[in-house]
Amino acid sequence: MKTILITGATQGLGRATAQTLAEDGHTLILHGRDGAKLSEVAAELRQVGAEVSTELADLSDLSEVAAMAARVTQSHPQIDVLINNAGVFKTTLTEAGGRDVRFTVNTLASALLAERLLPVIAQDGRILHLSSAAQAPVDPQALAGARKLQHMEAYAQSKLAITLWNQSFGDTHPDGPVSLAINPGSLLATRMVREGFGTSGNDLAIGVDILTRAALSEEFAEATGRYFDNDAGRLAPRYDTATADAVAAQINTLLTQV
Ligand SMILES: NC(=O)c1ccc[n+]([C@@H]2O[C@H](COP(=O)([O-])OP(=O)(O)OC[C@H]3O[C@@H](n4cnc5c(N)ncnc54)[C@H](OP(=O)(O)O)[C@@H]3O)[C@@H](O)[C@H]2O)c1
Repeated sequence: MKTILITGATQGLGRATAQTLAEDGHTLILHGRDGAKLSEVAAELRQVGAEVSTELADLSDLSEVAAMAARVTQSHPQIDVLINNAGVFKTTLTEAGGRDVRFTVNTLASALLAERLLPVIAQDGRILHLSSAAQAPVDPQALAGARKLQHMEAYAQSKLAITLWNQSFGDTHPDGPVSLAINPGSLLATRMVREGFGTSGNDLAIGVDILTRAALSEEFAEATGRYFDNDAGRLAPRYDTATADAVAAQINTLLTQV
């Protein structure tokens, strides 16, 4: 049985994945930004017999992400899987930390958590970053906070940014842990899809299944740095290495300021 940290575990895909992992007997570290919701979910998962601890942090504030990583490394000598699931698409609060909140939460918080937790993530463990079929070339000016973007553009750039960062991370950490970017499937039935696209969405189990497999199955043991597109049901071709490394370098520079 594994120790698995999952962010954004209080609803949607994160909540549903946590349920499956709990029922399968894994030890969970549940992250949320709302203390009441987090306690409620933790209590529900303890009902199915899971060992559960909780971590409260607003991922739009990178100092909270860093503090959470410091607490987790103190309290857990080993984590087997980190699932960077929390994400934001349409929101009224579009700015956080001097840049678009989509970059802060979907890209920088995920990269920062992976970097800071790395000392306690098992070498044969896994890091999953939630990506998306929505991907757009990353504008360095927008990532730096110097240019504003519309909702979809910001979301799509933030998702390609973490996907490219993941590829570069894979290239620089060939001995593990295995790190993957995952599109869990498009238009799955969550709040993000209801509010963002006005549709009830597809079966959430499609996303839960791929996240569970990516977290635990041997089929991904050699896939570090890759992007798995669950709409196509396969690993996508690698991205251009120079482009990925340039985006990753900018992200890593921004993270040194946290
Ligand atoms: N649903 C899809 O079809 C789809 C497709 C591709 C990719 N994805 C990705 O899958 C992931 C999960 O999305 P979802 O569809 O389950 O959406 P969701 O229902 O809106 O859930 C998003 C989760 O992220 C958390 N979150 C958002 N902003 C946060 C912040 N500033 N600090 C801490 N937590 C924050 C939310 O916390 P609260 O519970 O407190 O609101 C919630 O738990 C996202 O990364 C999304 O981009 C989803």
